[in-house]
Amino acid sequence: MAISLKVNGAVRSVAAEPDTPLLYVLRNDFELNGAKFGCGLSQCGACTVLVDGKAVRSCVTPIGALEKSEITTLEGLGTAEKPHALQRAFIDEQAAQCGYCINGMIMSAKELLDNRPRATEDEVRQSLAGNLCRCGTHNRIIRAVLRAAQANGRT
Ligand code: FES
Ligand code: FES
Repeated sequence: MAISLKVNGAVRSVAAEPDTPLLYVLRNDFELNGAKFGCGLSQCGACTVLVDGKAVRSCVTPIGALEKSEITTLEGLGTAEKPHALQRAFIDEQAAQCGYCINGMIMSAKELLDNRPRATEDEVRQSLAGNLCRCGTHNRIIRAVLRAAQANGRT
C-alpha cells in the first residue's frame, strides 16, 4: 500500500506495509543514508531521527504511525556548504572516528539543544547516554555538543 511521509519538509510516498521500519524506507526508498543501521533493536541509537521534534529510533518505528508527523533526518539539518551549528561543531572538534554513531549523536543532541539551547555538560552526557560509540570518541562528541551550546549562548 502507499503511505505518505513528510520528511525534511517534503511529502513523499512509498509503497510499503505499515509495519515497515522507518529506517528501511529512509535508506532504501528515499536514499537518505544519514541514519545508520547499527543493531536494529533500539539498543545503539545509530538510526536516530526526529519525529515531531523528538529523537526516536527509526529501526523500530513503523511507518504506519507516522503519516501525520514531521520527520527530520540528518540531511534536513544542513548542507556541506551550510552546515547546522551542531554539524559545524562536530567537524571543528573532529568528533568522528569511523563516524557510524555520529548521526545518532547529532540528532539526539539536536533534540536536547532545541529544548535546552545552553545545555550543561551533565545534560549533554545524560541525553547521549543511550547512544553507543564503539570507537570511544565520547569526550570529543561531548565537547562538540558543548561547543554548539556555547555558540547558542553567543547568538
Ligand atoms: S539501529 Fe536503531 S537503535 Fe541501533
Ligand atoms: S565514531 Fe565510530 S562508532 Fe562512534
